[in-house]
Amino acid sequence: MKITIDGRELEFKEGQTILQVAQENNIYIPTLCYNEAVKAYGACRLCIVEVERRGRRRLVTSCLYPAEDGLNVSTNSERVKADRKIIMQLLLARCPNNEVVIKLAKKLGVETTPFKLEDKNCILCGLCVRVCEEVVGANAISSVARGVYREIAAPYYEQSDSCIGCGSCVYVCPINAITFQDKGSKRILTMPNHKMKKVQFKLKKCVKCGTYWAPEKQIEFICKTTGQPAEMFDLCPDCRD
Ligand code: FES
Repeated sequence: MKITIDGRELEFKEGQTILQVAQENNIYIPTLCYNEAVKAYGACRLCIVEVERRGRRRLVTSCLYPAEDGLNVSTNSERVKADRKIIMQLLLARCPNNEVVIKLAKKLGVETTPFKLEDKNCILCGLCVRVCEEVVGANAISSVARGVYREIAAPYYEQSDSCIGCGSCVYVCPINAITFQDKGSKRILTMPNHKMKKVQFKLKKCVKCGTYWAPEKQIEFICKTTGQPAEMFDLCPDCRD
């Protein structure tokens, strides 16, 4: 099966999306909400491309749209550039102080935005929610409210009992808005756009070297979901070798 992207005829496998075929062939399509660890969701819409089949052209989100035999795709047509510019301007207005957003906007030729500036530091891509649900299985956070009030939060805006402090949300956040720091016996998770702002977790101490190395709640969660004995985690990874 073959698809044409920006004039290049490329082979693809059943089930691949346009974005996956493009990435596999080093064709750049900007993305923010795509991460191969979780199901694509199509939230940021930066990955739009123009597809053409039997003379009919339309814009689609390439992270969701399946590659089709004979499909002709343009990642940078005038229509794509114009729409992508507006999408980027909206993201820049929402997060005008976020370095990742500013850098990507510049890369796409967007230096300013005509839209009203906010200071959200969250693009509502939902990657943190999806990784917590699909990969970790903790379901600690979710998207709450609707429309302009939509945000990511734990139930009742309190420290979620289900959050194990693993930091998966930190690793997948595409704009580095969520961070954590291990300080002595504590892990402090900071979500600047979250009403809780900071949440703390007690770290487990290695019985051999005394290093604090992982949140106790995370270890409890692993023991519970995998059936591993708690003693397996008495030593930190360094002392286990
Ligand atoms: S990467 Fe496709 S919509 Fe965000």
